[in-house]
Amino acid sequence: MLQRSSPTNLRNLFFFSRYGSSFSKFFTSQAASSLRPVSETLTYRGEEEYADLNWDDLGYGLVPTDYMYIMKTSENEKFSFGELNRFGNIELSPAAGVLNYSQGLFEGLKAYRKEDGRLLFFRLEQNAMCMTMGAERMCMMSPSVEQFVDAVKQTVLANKRWVPPPGKGSLYVRPLLIGSGAMLGLAPASEYSFIIYASPVGTYFKEGLAPINLLVENVFHRATYGGTGGVKSISNYAPVLKAQGQAKSKGFSDVLFLDSKTKKHLEEVASCNIFILKGKTISTPATGGTILPGVTRKSIIDLARDFGYQRYKKLKTEQLPELDQVEECLIPVEELIEADEVFCTGTAVVVAPVGSITYQGKRVEFRTEDGSVSQNCTQPLREFRWVSLRTKWILNANLYIPQNLKRSPEGTN
Ligand SMILES: Cc1ncc(COP(=O)(O)O)c(C=O)c1O
Repeated sequence: MLQRSSPTNLRNLFFFSRYGSSFSKFFTSQAASSLRPVSETLTYRGEEEYADLNWDDLGYGLVPTDYMYIMKTSENEKFSFGELNRFGNIELSPAAGVLNYSQGLFEGLKAYRKEDGRLLFFRLEQNAMCMTMGAERMCMMSPSVEQFVDAVKQTVLANKRWVPPPGKGSLYVRPLLIGSGAMLGLAPASEYSFIIYASPVGTYFKEGLAPINLLVENVFHRATYGGTGGVKSISNYAPVLKAQGQAKSKGFSDVLFLDSKTKKHLEEVASCNIFILKGKTISTPATGGTILPGVTRKSIIDLARDFGYQRYKKLKTEQLPELDQVEECLIPVEELIEADEVFCTGTAVVVAPVGSITYQGKRVEFRTEDGSVSQNCTQPLREFRWVSLRTKWILNANLYIPQNLKRSPEGTN
């Protein structure tokens, strides 16, 4: 747990600073940001301590944690120094670019606690790169990949007691990039803020791991050609709320959007990508600026292509269909009728089997029982068995607190 500086903590400061830049960063925080930081020296108490929370009852609501990270650019300068602050409200000019012209981007990623005490991220640098690409599209300044990764690590370590016990959920981490500079006319902001907060989460859909039911949306669109659907602009999300709200009020889990030009091809769900399985082929809509190229989507495609489905088969003893192809292509909505299985992918949902999709009043049901591809082939993703598949996708550098750094006799480290 992080605490205000005390003589004992200062001693531990020296102790921990030998263990990687993340720790030492706690103690070398720089000048205050205009977002009202709490100026205090933070030190790390490395005990394995859990926050007081019912870990068996985690949903997907915001549970405020202890610390957030803030880094900001000065006028037309690059990001340089950031620091941890106590979690709380931020102060912004009413003329800030984000409030007036939606100059904002976010990312979403998770930290998992393993039985051996490690805290793991999955392909964290991919999220960093997504933010960099999004910033380019939105004419914003962005933290570098290294700054992003370092800041996320600091935030997770600072909130370590909020990372759920193994198997109970994860710590959802939300990096946010906003145009915080004030101006009146439409233009890129002159100043940007990078903020990271975190919240422990369980499963995304109220169905838990049970199959979800989707409604194909005919009227509203999530993204348009030439728009910002391919990046995580904050402006992409409010427009889905109307369709999502209507679908939920009819008992559906979420909305599946079609392309805005022809209204004939699948795009994605409000906050996750979609895959369909027919025979031996898994397909997903090709990205072209209207679909978010999600990290989970990319990982499923990469795994399938690199290892072939036979590798999945070896991982599980159950009978699996023999699969041989993954395709990124245009998927006409009618193909849903033919599909054997459908599943959604995303950091929040991980891999969610789809039980049914309703299109123009007709409900099509899909295989979801044990032995299905979405249940079994994607199990390595859902169960966080990435390690055995691709160690380079796992990041735990500086996050593993060695056992010998446990609580000091005074109980203060
Ligand atoms: C619109 C949309 N599609 C897909 C995804 C899944 O992306 P990822 O796998 O990177 O979490 C997200 C995640 O936020 C999203 O907002």
